[in-house]
Amino acid sequence: MFKKLNKKKNQPNASNNELDLHNVPNHIAIIMDGNGRWAKQRKLPRIKGHYQGMQTIKKITKEASDLGIKYLTLYAFSTENWTRPKNEVNYIMNLPVNFLKTFLPELIENNVKVETIGFLNDLPTATLEAINKAKEQTKANTGLKLIFAINYGGRAEIVHSVKSIYEKLSSEGLSSDHITEQLINEHLMTHDYPDPDLLIRTSGEQRISNFLIWQVSYSEFIFNEKFWPDFDKEELINCIKIYQSRQRRFGGL
Ligand code: FPP
Repeated sequence: MFKKLNKKKNQPNASNNELDLHNVPNHIAIIMDGNGRWAKQRKLPRIKGHYQGMQTIKKITKEASDLGIKYLTLYAFSTENWTRPKNEVNYIMNLPVNFLKTFLPELIENNVKVETIGFLNDLPTATLEAINKAKEQTKANTGLKLIFAINYGGRAEIVHSVKSIYEKLSSEGLSSDHITEQLINEHLMTHDYPDPDLLIRTSGEQRISNFLIWQVSYSEFIFNEKFWPDFDKEELINCIKIYQSRQRRFGGL
């Protein structure tokens, strides 16, 4: 029998299911898309959309922490985003400074640990300082790991990993027989984290856009229609319910 589909979202309507708090995804990764369109719809400059997107990060971090999610990885800035207009790039680069100035005490209070993946050395000094300060001040926290992907790209990450494997093997005089999935994993920027169980992309776009391309091999994908600034607790819970209605087989039966 066919499952009843919610036509608009083209996925099973799980909103009537109960949320199972014992089966929340361990790791949720989010492509926060639609800030620009949210602003355009309101005849506002694009940067207003990014500002509002930052407010959504605060709300969703809190919800994820309350739900007992262990890892939340957010795609904040890709290695390709530098091609955007300079004022937009500057504004986005300043958001972590603003975000952490206003939200760091709450992150500390809620036992959230701030971490990052990406090529941080290319970031402006003030951005890097704010991020390093947040990492330092939350390093002993044991709750949700809030991982910002900043100046991150999946292909660049794999190139970086392959280079460091090459250096290791050649310095130790080892052959390519030593290259395994595990070794590649260990050289990725995500080596400390489990793979995402659930990948959410907002704004209705259905692409992966170079995000965690190795790590999402067996993740469940949910494409949510809301623009990121409008994504909220209800949408997050609905995504988790849809996730809970899926059967994960990891290539088996
Ligand atoms: C996608 O929307 C959003 C981004 C490229 C930037 C998202 C960044 C933040 C919300 C801030 C990051 C902040 C911290 C604290 C690290 P879009 O501009 O591509 O939207 P569009 O597709 O509608 O144009």
